[in-house]
Amino acid sequence: MDAMAIRFDAEFDAIFSNQAIHWIQTQRLLYKKMNKVLKPRGRILLSTLGDPAESSNSEENGDSSAGINVSAIEAAALITVSHTPELEQFFQVLNSTSQILNGVSNMHERKPLTQKMLEGANFTRIQFETRDFFVRYETLDAFFSSRQAYIWPAILHVIPENIRATTLSKIKAQIKKQVTGDTQGAKFVERYPVLFISAEKIV
Ligand SMILES: C[S@@+](CC[C@H](N)C(=O)[O-])C[C@H]1O[C@@H](n2cnc3c(N)ncnc32)[C@H](O)[C@@H]1O
Repeated sequence: MDAMAIRFDAEFDAIFSNQAIHWIQTQRLLYKKMNKVLKPRGRILLSTLGDPAESSNSEENGDSSAGINVSAIEAAALITVSHTPELEQFFQVLNSTSQILNGVSNMHERKPLTQKMLEGANFTRIQFETRDFFVRYETLDAFFSSRQAYIWPAILHVIPENIRATTLSKIKAQIKKQVTGDTQGAKFVERYPVLFISAEKIV
């Protein structure tokens, strides 16, 4: 059901949402609707995409040192491929699409903007916390097949169908290029920042 179509009045103690609010373009209205469905002092706990700048870069981190940071390799590969002349325009579209999806033009503005929107929607005790999450892949192929299932199709949807397959091959080739002989047999770790937002309805 569309989150924006939910109609309740002061009926719930809490709302929990995991990795979904960034798909909703009318965030200001979303928070107002959330406030309306909550009982007085009702709470929200939401998770959304975190700011990579707030991600822990420490390689001493127990989890990340247990493998090669494959998401960093993928990000570098995407940047390299996006700079090829035939693809540059599509990746620009992709960038602006994801900014619209995320509701803010700049990740760094997310927290202050969300703070304002929540205050405007009658929430208090607003708290933010960014935490890194890790996914471990036993092989590079396991990482590829997970990406093939959900992330890469979303990235490629702005690119004309006739060059999607070759674009995907280029991304994979770039990743493989960086995973050199001495890293074969190593484990791969994907690290991504998650922003948690919590707040309470003002009585
Ligand atoms: C990354 S998934 C997270 C799914 C689930 N919450 C979980 O933790 O596995 C994002 C979800 O947001 C949902 N979504 C996108 N727009 C929505 C909307 N307007 N109302 C409700 N759900 C929406 C999608 O259907 C998708 O399932």
